[in-house]
Amino acid sequence: MKLVFLGPPGAGKGTQAAMVCDALSIPHISTGAMLRDAIAAGTELGLKAKAIMDTGALVPDDVVIGIVREKLASPACANGYLLDGFPRTLVQAEALEGFATLDAVVNVDVPAGKIVARISGRRVCAACGHTFHVDTLEDEACTQCGGALHQRDDDKPETVENRLRVYEAQTKPLIEFYARKRILLTVDGDQPIEAVYGAIMEALEKVRA
Ligand code: AP5
Repeated sequence: MKLVFLGPPGAGKGTQAAMVCDALSIPHISTGAMLRDAIAAGTELGLKAKAIMDTGALVPDDVVIGIVREKLASPACANGYLLDGFPRTLVQAEALEGFATLDAVVNVDVPAGKIVARISGRRVCAACGHTFHVDTLEDEACTQCGGALHQRDDDKPETVENRLRVYEAQTKPLIEFYARKRILLTVDGDQPIEAVYGAIMEALEKVRA
């Protein structure tokens, strides 16, 4: 399947995308993770992206579109993929139409009032990228690989406020864009992780049938 996960920052897109990709055996393509990898590697792209991401703004469309276009052309994506965090603007969505035909767009719907608590409690494994929340942490280290957990630089309260404003202004209009194309599946993300996963898989089963 060729899928997109939409939703505000902290909605649980990454958490669900990892589980769905495991179940469907498709690659998880997170533009945020790719940009963070570039930052960690100290590339020119990473240096430019860090300055933008730390403010909560979006990296320029042409840069992100180029990264995704190249990734989707790779053999690993020949049998499907899940795009997490792309597209994020109408320009990106329109560009994607030129090189991909999507089966479904899953909108993970979480009320704005729940978002800040989710993001401020997020901890990420520095080694494998697995995501946790302080409310349900079982250990101080990553339970998947033993790596150290840290808070993302863009999870500071002042950056989160801007990320939410950017989402409302630039990404939320994509809900209507994909609804008009009749490929939008909206799932209630304000439930326990396993319940959200069940709702997504049930919705995707109907698309596959
Ligand atoms: P990106 O990395 O894509 O961040 P985001 O979209 O803001 O999404 P998050 O990763 O913050 O949240 P999520 O929805 O994946 O939630 P998670 O599963 O972690 O982008 C970062 C930056 O990169 C952007 O600001 C931009 O600058 C740049 N960028 C990326 N893509 C771009 C693009 N296409 N164009 C331009 N710029 C781009 O969950 C959050 C927390 O909640 C975790 O602690 C988790 O454990 C917990 N949680 C998850 N589900 C539940 C649940 N059901 N109940 C309770 N807690 C839950």
